[in-house]
Amino acid sequence: MATNALWTPDAGGHNELHPYPGPRRRDTATHPPLPTNPVKPSSTTTGNPLPPISPAPASTDQPPKAPLFSHALIPSTVLSALPAGYSMRPLARGDYTKGHLETLKNLTTVGDVSEAAWTERYEWMRTSGRGGYYCLVVCDESERVVGTGCVVVEKKFIHNLGSVGHIEDIVVRKDQQGKKLGLRIIEALDHISKEVGCYKTILDCSEANEGFYVKCGYKRAGLEMAHYHDK
Ligand SMILES: CC(C)(COP(=O)(O)OP(=O)(O)OC[C@H]1O[C@@H](n2cnc3c(N)ncnc32)[C@H](O)[C@@H]1OP(=O)(O)O)[C@@H](O)C(=O)NCCC(=O)NCCS
Repeated sequence: MATNALWTPDAGGHNELHPYPGPRRRDTATHPPLPTNPVKPSSTTTGNPLPPISPAPASTDQPPKAPLFSHALIPSTVLSALPAGYSMRPLARGDYTKGHLETLKNLTTVGDVSEAAWTERYEWMRTSGRGGYYCLVVCDESERVVGTGCVVVEKKFIHNLGSVGHIEDIVVRKDQQGKKLGLRIIEALDHISKEVGCYKTILDCSEANEGFYVKCGYKRAGLEMAHYHDK
């Protein structure tokens, strides 16, 4: 748990409740950098009748050591439910060397990604993509990454300019499965999605994993699993 003390709410003034507009969910691997500030200032400053969606800071506004997102978004109930010695925190710059990609290999093909390329992607998420990517990791006693998952925030025009959280890339290392780490990852991402203003959180999964997501509180919704949050 000591790791968690390293992460504090953002010092840069970014409001996590009004995240940066994210890309469409299927574009996450390939889309080009987003423009830095496409959202107009809120009605409090312009008289614009839109809901008070604050602009994200320009990419260079992020202090070099600012985390991907505030650790405070991870609920204490989830942290305290982890097995002894395990921790959960935002994905961090050094996680390439702590086994982030090795963990993802338990899910799918990762490819031959260099540390420089990984770091470039991470830094893009942390700066230009800020507020759109909430990737977290679970670490064991030796700080090895053993589980990971993300919620990607999609800003929409429908539903009164609503946001949808897309849960992506959930995985627990094979030798760590069955310890409720997957459940804790989903609980945390679900909470984050709601906290940053998403009206629902959805995901795709294989039939083989449907039972897992049902245990996490999700239900079949057409071809997707969804959890509608109370407003
Ligand atoms: C799916 C996965 C994330 C589950 O993680 P995990 O840490 O092993 O699961 P948990 O221990 O948190 O399980 C929580 C509950 O779900 C159940 N569960 C786990 N996997 C399940 C599955 N595939 N089908 C049905 N139930 C499942 C567990 O038995 C447990 O039930 P319980 O509360 O009654 O004991 C993990 O098996 C994994 O990484 N698989 C490979 C990658 C993958 O398929 N990811 C999902 C992509 S959509």
